[in-house]
Order: sequence, then structure tokens, then C-alpha cells
Amino acid sequence: MTLTVLTLFPDFVESYFATSIAARAVARGFIEYRAVNIRDFAQDRHGTCDDAPYGGGAGMVLMPGPLGRALDSVEALKKRTVFPTPSGNLLTASYARELSEERELVLICGRYEGIDQRIVDLYVDDEISIGDYVLSSGELAALVIVDAVIRLGEGVISEESLREESFNGGLLEYPQYTRPEVFAGMQVPEVLLSGNHANIREWRLRESVRKTKRNRPDLFARLDDDLKGIASDEGAK
Ligand code: ADE
Repeated sequence: MTLTVLTLFPDFVESYFATSIAARAVARGFIEYRAVNIRDFAQDRHGTCDDAPYGGGAGMVLMPGPLGRALDSVEALKKRTVFPTPSGNLLTASYARELSEERELVLICGRYEGIDQRIVDLYVDDEISIGDYVLSSGELAALVIVDAVIRLGEGVISEESLREESFNGGLLEYPQYTRPEVFAGMQVPEVLLSGNHANIREWRLRESVRKTKRNRPDLFARLDDDLKGIASDEGAK
């Protein structure tokens, strides 16, 4: 998959792709990326890319000229183009899965009060929100989307990790433990030391259901009745 990120802060984007799982995915050739500086497409000697909103109001809006030329330079009209914005559709695991099946994605990082609506009308396929709060940096939101997407790509992380993680089957992930067996007087649950894989699977499923009920009643309400029943089975805390 190729990811093209249009930004006023390319160093911010580069630092993400130089670190951890993203860096490994780049090194192994699973993903390619380009950080394109929108300012390179400004036409005045100050590199101006933003202006005051028509109709008045606080803040600045990214001008359509430089951003449109930046988008044309990467042939955005031929690619699925994503604009992270708090007024977009909410990002979910299944939305990320759908995006991960694209060969190419273009992401636009907004700043200030947003971007000119004509850019959205002309170029944007997906307006995506990462949650019901407002960030000052479009780069952070774009990289959250990139991270959720690239980890689903083949070979980036193990199939087993993806299978067991939160939101698969509408459940949150079960609690994890590692050495030592006793920490701060708290013992690792006996079943995890038993080597009995059927019992471990059953314990993990029950803990997943309980955690979902406790932390995300909205997800719990959508589970099948037999799964819901597991939360109230004997031994429940
Ligand atoms: N830009 C600023 N806040 C955002 C949010 N919550 N989601 C996506 N993009 C954003």
C-alpha cells in the first residue's frame, strides 16, 4: 500500500514512519509513503497557505490554491482521498479494514479552522473523525488513521495478534499478564498457568464479555444472547 500525506509539517509525519511498526513495515516493503509539503505549492514569497474565513469568525482556513495544486501533484483524483475532520464519519475497526484493502490512500492534514469546502467537494472521498473531541493538529488524526490501517496489511503484524484483539467479534480484548507470577501481592490467574488451552480460551472469552459489559455497554448490547449470558455465568465477579 502507498500512503501519501499532504501536510504543512512533513517532519511530524516523517517521525511516525521512522518509528516502530511503521518503520518496520516500510523497511520490509509492505508500505511506501510520501510526505508532501503543501507549502511547496504556495505562490507568494511568504509561502502563504491559509487565510481568514469568508463570513468572518475565528481562525484561519487552508486556501484551496496551494492544497489543490498539492493534490493534483499526487494525482489525488485517481486515488481514495481521506480528510480527517471532527465532522467526519467515525473511524471504526471495520472502516479501517475497508481502507486497508486500498492500494493507495491520500490523506490531507488540515490545520487551523479547516480547509476550503471546495477542496472537500472536488477531491475528498472520505471525511473521517477519530473521535468526538477536537485536536489542533490534523497530522495527529491522519496518523491515527494511518496506524489503524497499516497494521491490518498483510505481514505487518501477526495474524494471531489481529485475531485476538479488541473489536473482533464486537468484543473488547481480555486482560493480559506476563512474568512475574506475583506482582505487588497479586497472583496471575491460575488458569493461565495451567497449560489447559480449552480452559484458557473459555476464561479469555468470559473476561472479554465481562470487560465489554463494564467498559462499553453500547457494544455489549449488540452481542448475541448466548455471549451476553457468559458475563453472568457462575464465577462472575
Ligand atoms: N482534526 C481535529 N480533530 C479531529 C478529530 N477528532 N478527528 C479527525 N480529525 C481531526
